[in-house]
Amino acid sequence: MEQRINEFIETRRAGGLLRSLCDVEPTAGAKVLIGGKEYVNLSSNDYLSIASHPDIVNAMQGAGVPASASSRLMTGTRKEHSLLEEKVAAFKGKEAALIFNSGYQANIGIISALCSRGTAVYCDKLSHASIIDGIKLSGAKMFRFKHNDMDHLEDLLSSGRGNYKNALIITETVFSMDGDTPDLKRITELKDRFDCMLMLDEAHATGIFGKNGSGWAEEADISASVDVLMGTFSKALGGFGAYAATSSSVREYLINTCRSFIYSTSLPVNIVLADSAGLDVVFSEPERRKELLLNSAYMRERLIEKGFRPLGGSQIIPIVVPDNKTTLRLSADLRKKGYWVTAVRPPTVPAGESRIRISLNYDHKRRDIDAFIEALAEVSGDQQW
Ligand SMILES: Cc1ncc(COP(=O)(O)O)c(C=O)c1O
Repeated sequence: MEQRINEFIETRRAGGLLRSLCDVEPTAGAKVLIGGKEYVNLSSNDYLSIASHPDIVNAMQGAGVPASASSRLMTGTRKEHSLLEEKVAAFKGKEAALIFNSGYQANIGIISALCSRGTAVYCDKLSHASIIDGIKLSGAKMFRFKHNDMDHLEDLLSSGRGNYKNALIITETVFSMDGDTPDLKRITELKDRFDCMLMLDEAHATGIFGKNGSGWAEEADISASVDVLMGTFSKALGGFGAYAATSSSVREYLINTCRSFIYSTSLPVNIVLADSAGLDVVFSEPERRKELLLNSAYMRERLIEKGFRPLGGSQIIPIVVPDNKTTLRLSADLRKKGYWVTAVRPPTVPAGESRIRISLNYDHKRRDIDAFIEALAEVSGDQQW
């Protein structure tokens, strides 16, 4: 066993694929202190820059008795959990909601509760690991359609849907590593035509898109057609944990079958209050998401002017670089210039598609964006990606 472990580490190191942890201390203005040096942080999912908002910090610190010491079905449900679920349901325009301890737990639990051996699950090729793991855990037959390719999804449904009693389509509304969005109207048409359930992962869209900031389902006006709207509190909402907004009957079914929900201690009340405060900030400070999206469009335009080819259409702005070592080199050179931009490599993204993933936050202002693009152009030399 030990030999296998050491070989694995050496192979990853040799391929420029070994990952490691470092201690990070957030400072004001979307910056971080790492190893005693301050960097502009372009790798945080605190998109609205509200993790340090006084309302959220006060909620996090003021609850008094944080530990719940029990699962939700035992004695771990406090009125704060129930109130947050009502608030999420209203925010998402659904009948009911259920809170989970993390997005990972939500996806593996919900998918494996809804699906089983006789189910067909249709998911995007670039789906988050938690979606893939949930499908594997369920034992369902997995069909992966090409990234955001609705024609391919239609082909797969036309040729195979008839062989299965039940089917689920699942995709993300803003892809975590690509920053792009599928054609949601088309997905709902396919869902209806082929009689499937539809689940959307709004982890990176919640708080940012839609008239009220509830996500892409709201923006595309399709919430009523989605059976399960999953999302997290841990990104734009500045908190921690996750939720599924759904019908009352699916909520009841999940409470009775979803193992990652049933067999885990419930979120501490201070986190629940912080999550609720995060939702309030989304309601009360809509200018954050508006400015963030304007700045994201500005950054993308400026990058294109400089000859770069950024992906996506959101606050996530990835630039694909041909190989792992160049990605690492770019990331290291940007650090020397005071920018923390993580190099994302396989297996998080497909082989040959390593990238620097720029994650824009509300606290990044236009002067920061301009200065970063100059730095990126300098470390890229005459190569553009
Ligand atoms: C699309 C997507 N779904 C689910 C998750 C998991 O969420 P969490 O970090 O709350 O476990 C993430 C984040 O890592 C994600 O990007």
